[in-house]
Amino acid sequence: MIFVMSNEYRKVALVTGSSTGIGLETSLALARNGFLTCATMRDLQKSKEIESITQKENIPIKVFEMNVDNDNSINAAITKIINEYGRIDILVNNAGYGLFGALEDFTMDEIKKQFETNVFGLIRVIQNVLPTMRQQRSGIIINISSMSGLAGIPSQSAYSATKFAVEGMSEALSYELEPFRIKVILIEPGVINTKFVQDLVVPTNKYEVDKNGDGINQLVENNKDVPLSFYNDTMKKFLTFYFKAMSKAPHPRIVADEIIHGIELVSNESNTTTCPILRLTVGNDSKKYSKLKKDLTDNEFHILLKSDLLK
Ligand SMILES: NC(=O)c1ccc[n+]([C@@H]2O[C@H](COP(=O)([O-])OP(=O)(O)OC[C@H]3O[C@@H](n4cnc5c(N)ncnc54)[C@H](OP(=O)(O)O)[C@@H]3O)[C@@H](O)[C@H]2O)c1
Repeated sequence: MIFVMSNEYRKVALVTGSSTGIGLETSLALARNGFLTCATMRDLQKSKEIESITQKENIPIKVFEMNVDNDNSINAAITKIINEYGRIDILVNNAGYGLFGALEDFTMDEIKKQFETNVFGLIRVIQNVLPTMRQQRSGIIINISSMSGLAGIPSQSAYSATKFAVEGMSEALSYELEPFRIKVILIEPGVINTKFVQDLVVPTNKYEVDKNGDGINQLVENNKDVPLSFYNDTMKKFLTFYFKAMSKAPHPRIVADEIIHGIELVSNESNTTTCPILRLTVGNDSKKYSKLKKDLTDNEFHILLKSDLLK
């Protein structure tokens, strides 16, 4: 337990999308490290796993309902948390999902919905938390980006766009928040083994997802009277790579561990207003492509990524 402040009060952490995957592991890791952790989720029926671990380990986790697509839901949860605990020291913006497919195949509604959750949801939560952090003159905002936020990935034009938006926004925000000693960290995981893969959204007018299918077989061409996607070849090649990578991908606890590491780094430098780190990559794939993105020309990187991902 490394982050308890004093006997009077604990540091308070808020995590979005805590029902499963990276959000669940991060909530547990924060609580195990002494943070009073407000684990939020849009569907409280999914709180059984976190509640049962909380009880078993006797760790400080409180569950709150929060749908990041909804202003009222965010406002209600944060008001309750502030009324109850009076502060928020750490915010982990984790809630999100993947919209995979060719840009031309999506409806605008599908793309807007992707931005609603992955970008506007995150901004809404930040706007609601900032008045408290500003008054405290302290706080750490951790935004879960992705390897797709550091390089555009084939068949992820919409998803990559949301993660690039999170990257640019976070980088700019770090300057705005410096005078208030609030730090911003971007976490860039590679492929991580979570239910992200089961919850992938594909262009619904081109494909159907067969939940009983395995890997690429989950993707069934939509047999209604619509022509096959012009991008079917790229989509199938990419998803073949992706499902294979997912089957060997690391457990989400490696992301949680890196988040704790990031908080430690920033807390050790709490006397400076400048954040000592902005980006933390997680996983061998993310580390590899992050380095190559810096070392190679755009054209060299493009050729390399194509040969790795679209065999
Ligand atoms: N897994 C990967 O390979 C990977 C790689 C890089 C980055 N990421 C990022 O990591 C984050 C977490 O993903 P994950 O891998 O842990 O996936 P996951 O297991 O599918 O978890 C996603 C979480 O987000 C929640 N969520 C989705 N929409 C929401 C909304 N409108 N309001 C509140 N919660 C919402 C989900 O809630 P429900 O349970 O109700 O659906 C779930 O708790 C995402 O931002 C994702 O983009 C994932």
